[in-house]
Amino acid sequence: MINADRLWKNLLDIGEIGKNPDGGITRLAFTKEDRQAIKMVEDLMKEAGLAVHEDEVGNLIGRKEGEDSNAPAVLIGSHLDSVFNGGIFDGSLGVLAGIEVLQSMTENGISTKHPIEVYVFRDEEGCRFNFSLLGSRGMSGTLKVENLEYRDNEGISLAEAMKSCGMNPEEFFKASRRPDEIKAYLELHVEQGKVLECENLQVGVVTGIASSLRLMVTVTGKADHAGATPMNLRFDALAAAAQIIGVVEKETRATKSAVGTVGQIHAYPGGINIIPGRVEFTVDLRDVSIKVAQQLEKSILSQAEDICTQRGLKLEVDFLQRVPPAPCSPEIIDTIAESCRELGIEELHLPSGAGHDAMQVVNLCPIGMIFVRSQNGISHHPAEWSTPEDCTAGAKVLYQTVLKLAE
Ligand code: GLV
Ligand code: MN
Ligand code: MN
Ligand code: MN
Repeated sequence: MINADRLWKNLLDIGEIGKNPDGGITRLAFTKEDRQAIKMVEDLMKEAGLAVHEDEVGNLIGRKEGEDSNAPAVLIGSHLDSVFNGGIFDGSLGVLAGIEVLQSMTENGISTKHPIEVYVFRDEEGCRFNFSLLGSRGMSGTLKVENLEYRDNEGISLAEAMKSCGMNPEEFFKASRRPDEIKAYLELHVEQGKVLECENLQVGVVTGIASSLRLMVTVTGKADHAGATPMNLRFDALAAAAQIIGVVEKETRATKSAVGTVGQIHAYPGGINIIPGRVEFTVDLRDVSIKVAQQLEKSILSQAEDICTQRGLKLEVDFLQRVPPAPCSPEIIDTIAESCRELGIEELHLPSGAGHDAMQVVNLCPIGMIFVRSQNGISHHPAEWSTPEDCTAGAKVLYQTVLKLAE
């Protein structure tokens, strides 16, 4: 059905790009490493006989024509960019499995009524600009012109980074597709959690994807002498931030379903003997229920406000992104499950806590996702791993599902 050795070799080859000494990869969007990975995948798409082009936000698209070229296309997608020191499967597996499926179909002499396209979405992780799903936002028409002004740690804006890769950011809106051009979207991804492993199953069918709220919180107090300022006369921004971070953890735990993370923090001016006058930290909040997510956000922000008021500090909250939960299509869920049964692969239905490009594509068409078991549930870490057998099982399910949707 598919060439498992070719898929595995391509995965390991791409995993060499941006490799760090400890085996993790850093392939941030619009960097040299990102471009190198995209070039390699462009060559693989051409080898697979696909018609290849790059759109205005830097997504790479490979298309296999259908018998009816005007029929809406079935899309397969994922990303090649990574987090800081991430693993080699996150994103790449979905892209390479998509190409493998189309190459195998051609080699097996199979044609479909509907055209099939593989999308490599640019900047899914959003690690560099703290803003994720750039390419899939561009493709689904949800990207806004102000998003292109977001800056990385070096002060480079998203628009400048895009220009450095040969794009014209002013034309970003041209990357968007019309709903009538697309029949369905499928994404294969590693689970990045332990559920499949605990159930001893290779493949999962995703029921829906959790929301994503990203905040930049700034607490402003007053920098002062750490020795000469008594405790009752301080306006310590970091002490308040610590209290707020405690609230994030406590309130999120109380929901039993949501997750909350403070992954970045900077204290200024940053001297051992100076009371911090300003602190900036990020908050990442997620839940599959919009109601739980909204209540959690409200409760955290109102307590943060109280903490700062009591301490005489100023609180500012920038909303970096807000993406609602994305339900998967019941019909596509059934089609994936049926494919699993035909292949003799027992599947499990589960939600996705991690974000995926499908969260944006859902604005255009029905979506479905296939998960592949992750070893020890580890991801966004160099130790991220899935076995060749499990990747093959996932790719076969993708093949069978694409065939059903595109025939
Ligand atoms: C990206 O993988 C995310 O879920 O944040
Ligand atoms: Mn990721
Ligand atoms: Mn991913
Ligand atoms: Mn992700």
